[in-house]
Amino acid sequence: MEKILILDFGGQYNQLIARRVREQHVYAEIRPYNKVRLEEVKRYAGVIFTGGPNSVYDQSAPHFDPAIMTLGVPVLGICYGAQLMAWMAGGKVSGAEEASEYGKTCLHLKGSLLWKDIPEESVCWMSHTDHIREIPKGFRITAYTDKCTCAAMADETRKLYAVQFHPEVTHTVYGKQMLRNFLFDICGCTGEWRMEDFVRRSVAAYREKLQGKKVLLALSGGVDSSVAAVLLHKAIGHNLVCVFVDHGLLRKDEADFVERTFREKFDMNLRRVNAQDRFLQKLSGVTEPEKKRKIIGEEFIRVFEDEAKKLGKVDVLVQGTIYPDVIESGAGEASVIKSHHNVGGLPDVIAFDEILEPLRELFKDEVREVGTQLGLPKELVWRQPFPGPGLAVRIIGEITQEKLDTLREADAIFRKELEASGAQSNQYFAVLTDLRSVGVKGDARTYGCTVVLRSVTTDDFMTAEWTRLPYEVLEAASNRITNEVSGVSRVVYDITSKPPATVEWE
Ligand code: XMP
Repeated sequence: MEKILILDFGGQYNQLIARRVREQHVYAEIRPYNKVRLEEVKRYAGVIFTGGPNSVYDQSAPHFDPAIMTLGVPVLGICYGAQLMAWMAGGKVSGAEEASEYGKTCLHLKGSLLWKDIPEESVCWMSHTDHIREIPKGFRITAYTDKCTCAAMADETRKLYAVQFHPEVTHTVYGKQMLRNFLFDICGCTGEWRMEDFVRRSVAAYREKLQGKKVLLALSGGVDSSVAAVLLHKAIGHNLVCVFVDHGLLRKDEADFVERTFREKFDMNLRRVNAQDRFLQKLSGVTEPEKKRKIIGEEFIRVFEDEAKKLGKVDVLVQGTIYPDVIESGAGEASVIKSHHNVGGLPDVIAFDEILEPLRELFKDEVREVGTQLGLPKELVWRQPFPGPGLAVRIIGEITQEKLDTLREADAIFRKELEASGAQSNQYFAVLTDLRSVGVKGDARTYGCTVVLRSVTTDDFMTAEWTRLPYEVLEAASNRITNEVSGVSRVVYDITSKPPATVEWE
């Protein structure tokens, strides 16, 4: 299969580069620069050196074997990658404040295959302090800006290309065309990477590899584990056992929907474990958010372990890891704001021979495409993110059955009203606070609880804006919740962005 190697030197746009390449239907793999052997490079149609925060002339800066430039495999160096190429080929790189550029910059091009179908003058995105001061032998300058005499260079006989700017970001107006030129005209790619092929190849490969094996998967009802489940089910049918732990902290009707979908629509070997009481008992009296999260994470593992024991020896454990998880797991630990609950602890307690991660090559939108192709319902494929600890982190204070019932109703109403209005939001839900306030119903005084409506607009959930929802949506939700959900006397809307707040309340 034709693929592009993205050699990772620590740049912040690496995933974006991979996305841009895959958008052209060419498969791209990001690999750390120090984990790739020179001989392996020959297997790729082309290589992209990413940007990075270092200066090439620092002793500790990430470097690669210069022999990569003699393999005949085309290379495109971006930002730090461009400087690295210059440095490896014998040119000179230096840092100078007056040559540094940041932001949109006017770019002037001088004939190169990389610029096919691109005007001589356009806008590019720059972000650098160091620059190529002297180009290496065999190269010529192919672009410049007002401050940077070498904004791009190339040795076209060796198919080596370097750009100081970032073609992968949309601010570089012709960036997409530049990447297309690199992939198709320089690397000779054909652009045949398709999700249908991924599905077909995976199903065929797993059918053969997993013949007669007992395969276990923890199904949460989230997008990733659902898609992994259907993919493997297609390959090995009932040899895949899916365990769905209902911890009683899901949204209204959600657990039944998950069960119906997988049991009836897909005829899966599904085991639903109704563990609501176990979780409620463990959570009884607990009010501290991190403690709640820990308890739920641990109890989830215990329940799963108990169920797995009934199955006897398991050969393969499947995990719904996706590509961003793979890349991010290599990164250093940032400070823990919230301990996110995934099924990460399972491998330690289940006896099995092998872990399988069928989606580890895919980005989220690609996972969704696979899910759609496999016939998963829209509600599942496009499901908004939902935290592993579920409603437990949306009820402030102690969790009780009564509070769960109240929140479920309020949340369902809000979601329905928002969806019916067509308003755009990336995540929207209700929170039940432990705040009571006075109200009036008929002629009587009430003293009920306060529900918060939360809706955020975001690309990546790392930062988020509160959504400017139409008043009509808020009004309809508020009216219905106070009328239809007993015990609620007040509804408020959360107008805090992230940061300083987080998306979830706990
Ligand atoms: P925060 O609250 O950290 O949420 O701003 C960012 C995104 O992550 C989701 N979230 C979780 N997802 N396990 C998950 O799988 C968790 O424990 C968890 N906590 C928060 C949250 O819903 C939002 O989309």
